[in-house]
Amino acid sequence: TKPLRIALAGLGTVGGGVIRLLDTNGALIARRAGRPIEIVAVSARDRSKDRGVDMTRFEWVDDTTALAQADVDVVVELVGGSDGPALTLARTTLAAGKSFVTANKAMLAHHGLELARAAETAGVALKFEAAVAGGVPVIKGLREGAAANEIERVYGILNGTCNFILSKMEAEGRDFADVLAEAQALGFAESDPSFDIDGVDAAHKLSLLASLAFGTQPAFGDVAAAGIRHVLAADIAEAAALGYRVRLLGLAEAGPGGLFQRVHPHLVPVSHPLAHVTGATNAVVAEGNFVGRLLFQGAGAGDGPTASAVVADLIDIARGEFGPAFAMPADALTAQGPADAGER
Ligand code: HSE
Repeated sequence: TKPLRIALAGLGTVGGGVIRLLDTNGALIARRAGRPIEIVAVSARDRSKDRGVDMTRFEWVDDTTALAQADVDVVVELVGGSDGPALTLARTTLAAGKSFVTANKAMLAHHGLELARAAETAGVALKFEAAVAGGVPVIKGLREGAAANEIERVYGILNGTCNFILSKMEAEGRDFADVLAEAQALGFAESDPSFDIDGVDAAHKLSLLASLAFGTQPAFGDVAAAGIRHVLAADIAEAAALGYRVRLLGLAEAGPGGLFQRVHPHLVPVSHPLAHVTGATNAVVAEGNFVGRLLFQGAGAGDGPTASAVVADLIDIARGEFGPAFAMPADALTAQGPADAGER
């Protein structure tokens, strides 16, 4: 059978993980996908870096955006950034009638509607399981598993760097500034780490979850976000004395005035499962009117988990199983209503 041909843009941690995953599990994946999945072309800033795998078998393309013209079925974008080369590559790939798989939450939070429309016009896939909560299949969970439900609320721990910092502060009584460097050393932080600690990264992800859950247009500008810079060890101790733990949560909920989307530190009662999520883990709760409360939990970053999500999307495309990016056609997605960005 004809392989699914892939171009891979960006060979950092996740890109290397995708290559290693396909090398290791290729035969199993081909059986599940019904056809082999083969990387044929790649591009990266640094050609010579040792990625622990044989890179000579791929066609190297110097200009990332030229990958859209490669002889492939799918372009996988792991470059990052809401605009710039990633966005150019997304637009030109979809315009060329090829499917696009990305881990780029920032780009989709800002340009998701435009790209979803472009994919639908071309009749190809736009997929982004890796963009939210890394290896945790929460996009598929909402888009497919819970698709029959009215979703009442979706919320969770969407940034591993912040959860690592808050759980360290809690366990060791240390202040924010003191544990920040350790969190960054994990390698999960965004290239601009203020995106993590100021809640921007979680807001990007929340805007995507909200779109899937509520059928709204992804709109980063409608998410009110505050981070964890000002949380003190004393605040955490105070909360603990009252039976709470501090977690940075993103929460989206449909209310009478419209869709409410916020990211900020929350007090979570110790009886709630999210109070027990520690370290650089992600966890998302979705409440549906027939399914009840779902909890998705696991590694929100890292090469293995994130590659697992990228390749899951490739398997869907190989099987021909894909529909609209945000669970309903782009033109059916609604704007969010008046309560969007404000306080309630
Ligand atoms: N910077 C993100 C985090 C990486 O810390 O969760 C995964 O999106």
